[in-house]
Amino acid sequence: MILMKDIIREGNKKLENKALFVTIPLKLKDIKLIREMNDFLKNSQDEEIRSKYKLRSGVGLAAPQLGIPKRICAIYLVFPDKTIEYNLVNPIITKKSTELIYLENGEGCLSVDRETTGITPRYRAITVSGFNYNLSTNLLEEIEIEFSEYVSIVVQHELDHLDGILFTKKMFKTIPNARASEMI
Ligand code: NI
Repeated sequence: MILMKDIIREGNKKLENKALFVTIPLKLKDIKLIREMNDFLKNSQDEEIRSKYKLRSGVGLAAPQLGIPKRICAIYLVFPDKTIEYNLVNPIITKKSTELIYLENGEGCLSVDRETTGITPRYRAITVSGFNYNLSTNLLEEIEIEFSEYVSIVVQHELDHLDGILFTKKMFKTIPNARASEMI
């Protein structure tokens, strides 16, 4: 299982590299990686497992954060009325809104241990094409999905990791013409 020691931190040059597109169909080791990344996020949101293994709670994890330069990221968000779970492979933003939003209290990252102050501009909505590995069916699905508001911020944060960009590289005191995101 993935533990905090497996996640590389700010300052490690591997977090600054552009990750490579993954070959399709997926290799077994890529599927294994996806499963482990998804497990980590679920474990990190389970109070008992989190405290037992001293995990930091996370809603997204990208392969480069494990030192693996592949365009794979996992997202796991539990809301009162629904769960949003994606294991994105080779995701590409094909559309983006002109409106900008930001997370009111600033973003956080499993690769950034320090407290940060500042807000990070994100598109209010994006459309992402590529693939999603569905862990319940074990199928790689071709996708085109629109994300908006908070979920869109999480996806953009993860996609930035695939391009070697940490949110700390784009933190501002204020962003003109942007508003705080809605939580869903
Ligand atoms: Ni991050």
